[in-house]
Amino acid sequence: MCPTIVPFMRETKKEQDIYFTSLIDTMKILVATEKPFAKKAVDGIREIVENAGYELALLEKYTDKSQLLEAVADVDALIIRSDKVTAEVIAAAKNLKIVVRAGAGYDNVDLAAASARGIVVMNTPGQNSNAVAELALAMMIYMSRNRFTPGTGSEIQGKTLGIHAYGNVGKLVGRKGKALGMNVVAYDPFITDEAVFEADGVKKVATVEELYKASDFLSLHIPATEQTKGSIGYDLLMSMPKGATLVNTARKEVIDEAGVVRALTEREDLKYITDIAAGNQAELDEKFGKRVFATAKKMGAETAEANINAGLAAASQIVDFLKNGNTKFQVNK
Ligand code: 3PG
Repeated sequence: MCPTIVPFMRETKKEQDIYFTSLIDTMKILVATEKPFAKKAVDGIREIVENAGYELALLEKYTDKSQLLEAVADVDALIIRSDKVTAEVIAAAKNLKIVVRAGAGYDNVDLAAASARGIVVMNTPGQNSNAVAELALAMMIYMSRNRFTPGTGSEIQGKTLGIHAYGNVGKLVGRKGKALGMNVVAYDPFITDEAVFEADGVKKVATVEELYKASDFLSLHIPATEQTKGSIGYDLLMSMPKGATLVNTARKEVIDEAGVVRALTEREDLKYITDIAAGNQAELDEKFGKRVFATAKKMGAETAEANINAGLAAASQIVDFLKNGNTKFQVNK
């Protein structure tokens, strides 16, 4: 391609700048993962980055924010998982042009700080959904078997599974729940097309109250936003059927932790399982024993397949942005 002609094919000045910068410098892409990707995923990311003529840097298992601040100093692009990209990190990353959260939830990135610097933030929607959906079902079975306590288990077949938010993960949980013989109901105020639910044989309910009231197992798939933080608590839990279990593979921030303690205290039949410890996990463990369980680290996307899907997608999205200005998955538009 001739550099004197190509810029005229690019619509905006920003796209031209990106193109010229990519011709002059070797771009440096940092994978910063406190909880590292599987090796195969890192190998695949390296291949994509190096084939594009860029340099890959790795910061894995870091234990202190200062290590991240130092590592981002000269990078053009950043791939992260649940790693916190705060205003401080963004300020330290003088050359940063793009951050890709390899995964779905981007509540760990300060979008306002990124936007103020013109930095593009993307996620990789759908890439790790199956892993999270499988974990949600596994958690239901684990709790219905009373955490593998002989003589006390029950089955999930024939029970009602409620899905709170019918996005990429919610849909997969719904379909898998159906395959396991569960009655599946879902609530999602952002999906108005009934056909989306009908296609999966899932019953759509009109209100969040209706959902919790019907659900023997409630699987949470809402993002952590200003609207949803602390929104799941006492009233919703208390409305659930006898022996119900709340399954949280979303974010701990969406839970009203004091409300959950109150509900579990008043209702000895209720159970709560969460992927990543609650803020008050020690209190939950002490008060409710086997009725609560938390993973030590977030396990939802901890499969080789999810790491490969999300990691490679992140690397490809960065290359496509730096070379072609593609912002399809940008979340801070
Ligand atoms: C996501 O939002 O994609 C999941 O919570 C996965 O997070 P992780 O990459 O930190 O495991």
